Amino acid sequence: MMGQTPRIEAQGLTRSYDGGRIAALRGLDLSIAAGEFIAIVGPSGCGKSTLLAMLGALEAPQTGTLSFDGEPFPPPHRASAFRAEHIGFVFQSFHLLPTLSAAENVEVPMFESTRSSRQRRERARMLLHLVGLDHRSNDRPSMLSGGERQRVAIARALANQPTLLLADEPTGSLDSVNAARVMQLFEQLHAELGTTLVVVTHAAEVAGHAQRVVRMQDGRIITEVEHAA
Ligand SMILES: Nc1ncnc2c1ncn2[C@@H]1O[C@H](COP(=O)(O)OP(=O)(O)O)[C@@H](O)[C@H]1O
Ligand SMILES: [Mg+2]
Repeated sequence: MMGQTPRIEAQGLTRSYDGGRIAALRGLDLSIAAGEFIAIVGPSGCGKSTLLAMLGALEAPQTGTLSFDGEPFPPPHRASAFRAEHIGFVFQSFHLLPTLSAAENVEVPMFESTRSSRQRRERARMLLHLVGLDHRSNDRPSMLSGGERQRVAIARALANQPTLLLADEPTGSLDSVNAARVMQLFEQLHAELGTTLVVVTHAAEVAGHAQRVVRMQDGRIITEVEHAA
């Protein structure tokens, strides 16, 4: 790892809410290698979602620095273009658009790219195949199970070939069978696409899929454990 530029380098991140009464992050340092798969665990309220929002340039730290492939994170007016180019997000509650089909949901982020409508359709079909949902392309989210919805959301997150995929409790609303399937899918995508993957989770079995588990408490990292490959 020596000499390799980290995908993400975070130093001294702080963020407070409520006029400083709530300190969500208290000087957090984290380095993530390109192509790494890490899990972030810790009790509810310890700052996991706040951290993930910063890694995804959805929020800026109040103090501290963030870099991406050795470059500082973009200023606010360029954050949305930066996200569209580099980052995919997956959330606990899927956030699919209910009136669109699975395929159309996957196409949505591609409207920010230069792809033609035909390229968008073909890529959506390819991504739904990748997540094992070819046969559900035309179905709306209400027709799909929770596990299937999350797989559509993962396909959508991959729409613009992100080099960083961020998932906030992606198995939090799934039963254990579907949770295991979603984690197998993340492992497969990580292996096949080489995407840097950061998964926030409550579940120990989910964290067990990652190469490194980072444990947070009170807005800081308290332990890091590497898993043997
Ligand atoms: N928009 C907000 N306004 C006020 N407090 C917030 C806000 N977002 C998060 N917090 C607080 O910041 C702390 C960290 O929250 P969060 O990052 O969501 O933790 P986690 O994802 O680990 O549960 C918590 O105390 C939470 O209540
Ligand atoms: Mg959270």
